[in-house]
Order: sequence, then structure tokens, then C-alpha cells
Amino acid sequence: MYLTKEQEQMLAGEQGEVLERMFRLLARLGDIYGADRMISVGSVQVAGVSYKSIGDPGLEFLEDMAGKGAKVRVPTTLNPPGMDLVDWKELGFPEDFAEKQLQIMDAFKKMGIMMTATCTPYLVGNLPRFGEHIAWSESSAVSFANSVIGARTNREGGPSALAAALCGVTPNYGLHLDGNRKPSVVVKVSAELKDNSDFGALGYHVGKLVKKGIPYFKGIEHADVDQLKALGAAMAASGAVALYHAEGLTPEADIMNTEGLETIDVGERELRGTYKALNTGKDPDIVILGCPHASLKEIATLACKLEGKHLRKPLWICTSRVTKEAATRMGFTEIIEKAGGKVVADTCTVVSPIERMGYKITGVNSGKAANYLPGFCKQQVVFKSLDDLLEGLSA
Ligand code: F3S
Repeated sequence: MYLTKEQEQMLAGEQGEVLERMFRLLARLGDIYGADRMISVGSVQVAGVSYKSIGDPGLEFLEDMAGKGAKVRVPTTLNPPGMDLVDWKELGFPEDFAEKQLQIMDAFKKMGIMMTATCTPYLVGNLPRFGEHIAWSESSAVSFANSVIGARTNREGGPSALAAALCGVTPNYGLHLDGNRKPSVVVKVSAELKDNSDFGALGYHVGKLVKKGIPYFKGIEHADVDQLKALGAAMAASGAVALYHAEGLTPEADIMNTEGLETIDVGERELRGTYKALNTGKDPDIVILGCPHASLKEIATLACKLEGKHLRKPLWICTSRVTKEAATRMGFTEIIEKAGGKVVADTCTVVSPIERMGYKITGVNSGKAANYLPGFCKQQVVFKSLDDLLEGLSA
């Protein structure tokens, strides 16, 4: 692989131990995947933030890096931690967990990473442009950046994203190359997609079938940004889809050729079958919305539906701190709280320790959350549309 003089210095340890370690990781990845060179990245999204996912070994690694003076070279944002960083006590997060989580945040902060604490960095200021090379981890954000924005990123892991942030580059392979962005399968959708949960169900179903492929959707007549994020997140979770195209909806769809590709049909039967498969519980102990993190529009919709209502059971809507601030300013947080719900910032359903907080059955409208909750959080799942979930919670 071609390396510039500066990159050779990093590899040789002439720019310190941390950069040597990190650049070596990138060079190794480049060798494995046949990259011809390193490319500069416009931004990085770092995942692997929750103490629940990385534990003590992760915390020690991050503290070691931060202690040795590691500093990011490009704008870098951060995935959700395992708790609301402000209201964790009130929400019942365990003290021992909180202590470790705050140490993790401190280490990231020392490295110059922006404390966005969200899986939707594109909603809070880390918005790449079309065609820009970036190095993002967090599979739902990767899918959104590649598919909806048309930026270019591989599905980075936490360590390779951190390495890209510290070195400012990533190896040029995979989805950074035009030739690897072509669709591998056509998905013809005849099912009617009404609620955001329908997009989650569609994504879950297609991800299972196409695994690492690049689906090209035909027949989705309309989808807003929240629905596209729900679709991509579910496909990235049930499969490993990092890029999809949707006719008339995503920016690269028009230049893609689908002739001769295998076609998968998704109708009402497949969609209903997916709902059935994802529902493993009946009456939820808690409903958690906002996977991926809710946009201001989603919070506004919820507030509108909850105005004057009284909920029988807990309801959280997870979002970024920035979005929560705006929701509070608009009066949405107050309406939701008056009804008995909570706007939970920073964290999310899956990376928070909800199984330690007494919950066993969780209601969600997200295909991604429905995919991970049974394994990561030992939850039975109720997967329904927003209206159906709220109906079950109303007094
Ligand atoms: Fe985001 Fe957590 Fe879902 S990181 S995509 S809210 S599992």
C-alpha cells in the first residue's frame, strides 16, 4: 500500500506510541482488504461507548490512550453511552454502572471527541456531504450516511473508527470505491408502509435475506428521513447491510443499473410475518421509542399524541441531548412528562442496562431494537406501531 512520508513516520513510531499502534491497525486492515492507499476522512463516529458493551477492558484501553495524550485530528462524534448522563439517578440507573460510564466519557473527552452521545450524528451537526469519505462506526449511522446522504464509509468497528480519528485517514477499500456501491439484489415492495414500524419490519426482513448485500428498493412510494433511518437501522441489525438504494428516494439510486439482478418480493404477507416473528411478549413493562435516536419531529409527533393523556406504564423516548434541549424549548418534554413518559437523553434501549432495572418485556417500534433486545437485554419484545403501543399504555 502506498504511504505518504507522514504515514510512514506514524507506522515507524516516530510520532509516538499511540499513533504507531493506531496506524498499524489501519495498515493491517488495508492489507487484508487490498487498499491501494490511505484516504483522508472528513469525520468519524466512534461506537463502543457504553460500559455495558466495553466493560473494564474497554475502559482501561481508553484511559491508557487518553493518558498518553491521544488527540483526534478530525471532527469526531460519539455514540450513546449506557445511561442518561444528567438524569441517570432519577431514572434508576445503577450507581456502580454510572461511575464507570462517567470515567469512559472522561477518557473520550480528553481525546477531543465531541460529547454528542448519539447514534444520529447527522441530526446534531456531524453531517457529511455527498461523496465525502468518512470513517463511521454504529451500523445505523453507517447505513444512513452511505444510503441517504451518499457519503462513503465502511462499517467500522469501535477501534478502527478511533484509529481513523486519531490518524485522520482510513484505508481506501470497500464502500469508498465506486465499483463496490452497486446493488446486488432488487427488493420489490408491494406491502403498504404506513407507520415507521413498517419500515423497521421491512428492514428486518430484508436484512435477514440479503445479509451483507446491497439492496435496491423499488415500489416505496414515499418515505421521510425518519422512515429511511428506521429501514437502514433494521437492515444493518438483522443483516450487515451498510448501503441500500431506493428508487426515487436515495441519491445514488438513479445511476445504478439493476438489470439481471435477482428480485425479492415483499408484500403484506411477509410484513405481517415479520411482526409475528418479532413479537415474543404480550403486555410490555415499559415502552421505549427512539431507536435510532428520535428526531425532533418524532418527539413532536409523540407529544401531540400524548397531550392530555395519562400513561399506565413507563414510556421512554431516547434522543440526543441536543434534540432534547430543542424539545424542551418547544414544550414537548413537558407534555410527555405530564402524561407520565420521559425524554431520555444520551443513551438507548439496547446499550442501557434495562435488565438490571427490573424490566422484562419491552415494547418498541424499531426493527433494530426488536432484533437486539432479546440477546443484549434479555427482554421479551412487543413490536408494534406507535399508535398500537400507546393504546396499550393508555389508562
Ligand atoms: Fe441507536 Fe441504540 Fe438503536 S445506538 S440505533 S438507539 S440500538
